[in-house]
Amino acid sequence: MAKPKKKTKKITERRAYGITVLKASDSRIRKLRKKHEPNIHGNKVWNSSWCIMDFLTSQGLPNGVSVLEAGCGWGPAGIFCAKKFDARVTGLDADAAVFPYLNLHAEINGVEITTYEATFDKLKKKQLSEYNLVIGGDICFWDEMKKPVYKLVEKSMNSGVGQVIIADPGRPPFHKMAEKVIKRIGGEVKEWSVDDEVKANAYLLIVGSLP
Ligand SMILES: C[S@@+](CC[C@H](N)C(=O)[O-])C[C@H]1O[C@@H](n2cnc3c(N)ncnc32)[C@H](O)[C@@H]1O
Repeated sequence: MAKPKKKTKKITERRAYGITVLKASDSRIRKLRKKHEPNIHGNKVWNSSWCIMDFLTSQGLPNGVSVLEAGCGWGPAGIFCAKKFDARVTGLDADAAVFPYLNLHAEINGVEITTYEATFDKLKKKQLSEYNLVIGGDICFWDEMKKPVYKLVEKSMNSGVGQVIIADPGRPPFHKMAEKVIKRIGGEVKEWSVDDEVKANAYLLIVGSLP
């Protein structure tokens, strides 16, 4: 007689750097997808963000700093800053369809994140001056993103933001933007790998520093 098949529970969550991230197969994500369809690639957590978390873990962050996550998508790096460093975090994205996913992740991680629908170029110096740290994972993937991301870095540093970190797996638009930033504003690009709870590789453009 054939043995009854064992039911194996599908793992639909990932836990790393103290936060929980849901996979696309999770029922809560599938439910959201019926109503909200992100259309500028904000449809999952991108790997570069793990490298931002790893870098911030080794660098450290003063408790209670104010963080802007630009092109936040589901908000992984911002949620990490809120959870680990008690940071006040705003997640900015051009696509409002990402916010239900960000809010779900904020809820399951027990943090609060302010959301703001806007493109990078709409940010005013006065708004940027409220932040100590600006972070962005995988936000410079098309040629037309080079200029707005460069301007975001320039405006941030001219507004008194202490540090800007932009991460990317190494696409040409990112490297071109980073070259221009280093030449005109300063900073450096570091190659960063994580191979622990998650595996990820990215280049980190790091401009400025925090006390
Ligand atoms: C590849 S996803 C990365 C999402 C998230 N940072 C992560 O690491 O999982 C890029 C995000 O940037 C947003 N985005 C693209 N262009 C933008 C712009 N000009 N202004 C603001 N957000 C933008 C997209 O809507 C998307 O959520």
